[in-house]
Amino acid sequence: MAVMLAAARRQPVPHTPVWFMRQAGRYLPEYRAVRERHSLLEICATPSLAAEVTLQPVRRLGVDAAILFADILLPVVPMGLELSFANGEGPVIANPVRGAAAVARLARVDVRDALAPVLETVRLVRRELEPATPLIGFAGAPFTVACYCIEGRSSRHFVTAKRLMYEDPATWHELLRRLVTVLGDYCVAQVEAGAQALQLFDSWAGGLNPDDYSCYVLPHSRRLFDRLRTLAVPLIHFGVETGTLLELMRDAGGDVIGVDWRVPLDQARERIGTEHAVQGNLDPVALFAPLPELRAKVRDVLRRAGDTGHIFNLGHGVLPETPVDHVRAVVDLVHELTSR
Ligand code: CP3
Repeated sequence: MAVMLAAARRQPVPHTPVWFMRQAGRYLPEYRAVRERHSLLEICATPSLAAEVTLQPVRRLGVDAAILFADILLPVVPMGLELSFANGEGPVIANPVRGAAAVARLARVDVRDALAPVLETVRLVRRELEPATPLIGFAGAPFTVACYCIEGRSSRHFVTAKRLMYEDPATWHELLRRLVTVLGDYCVAQVEAGAQALQLFDSWAGGLNPDDYSCYVLPHSRRLFDRLRTLAVPLIHFGVETGTLLELMRDAGGDVIGVDWRVPLDQARERIGTEHAVQGNLDPVALFAPLPELRAKVRDVLRRAGDTGHIFNLGHGVLPETPVDHVRAVVDLVHELTSR
């Protein structure tokens, strides 16, 4: 079995597997070359291009997994939201969901039809990858996707989204129920097309305290994970600034809990328990450090993680200006230090 999938199941592995969130992206010159000619949404909608940029970091870095090139917001487009990416500023939704009527207007989605290019990308990548390198599919978790649907763009305090949550909980819960259906269908279709693991990104969950997470988010994430569990592929549950939420995220679901760099991995493991693997958690900014310092930080993550049930990753995505040779050095070092 592929090393990354074995680690996700807490089985013994010949070395600790490593991949990086946002391993395809602007820090890679070959990705920038594609982006000069195509927008992000064009790449996502063109299977040959999306497959090419999915494979770029696998070739360049020697990572132990590929992650599908797509975006967490693609599934809201067929639901009726007008998505674009403003230059350098991230996603913008022209008609954000601001109340009960807007939720009621959201379209039911046949993901096999509406997201056919993404599913075709999965098939293309699967055909190109060596059997030892699994393809990770992904979706946003319901909370993080809901935040974008409501705010219409990246947000610091989620004022609009939280106001809806507090003022009109029935509408909030209805929106999340609808997202769980579409995101679940989308994940199932990715696995049917060949994805061998799934990561759910709840990138903004750390904006909630544990009570609000439990009340407004956890039941929805749990329904999604309960459905995906029947697929029998490893499920990774990731969020940022989730230091106060790790136990709750574990309870919501996932075989692997993704941890950001703010919580030392030994402490995270202590709290998550022995029934789960962990993924993480080098600070993405550590990749900018001089190599000796970077190596010390990689060693520290590995020492805290222990030998089994660890997938090495960053605590969040690779940043655009990251030196490529440092990313490659981390892959080699993880393999070298953990080869058993
Ligand atoms: O290599 C990979 O990780 C796969 C591809 C991937 C993208 N988006 C492509 C992308 C993945 C896994 C995502 C997930 C995603 N998208 C998340 C969750 C992960 C996270 O970062 O917390 C979120 C919140 C989004 C929404 C999104 N898309 C934002 C906030 C931005 C702008 C941020 C930025 O870096 O500019 C995007 C744009 C985006 N999605 C880029 C890429 C490679 C930036 C690139 C570009 O313009 O070419």
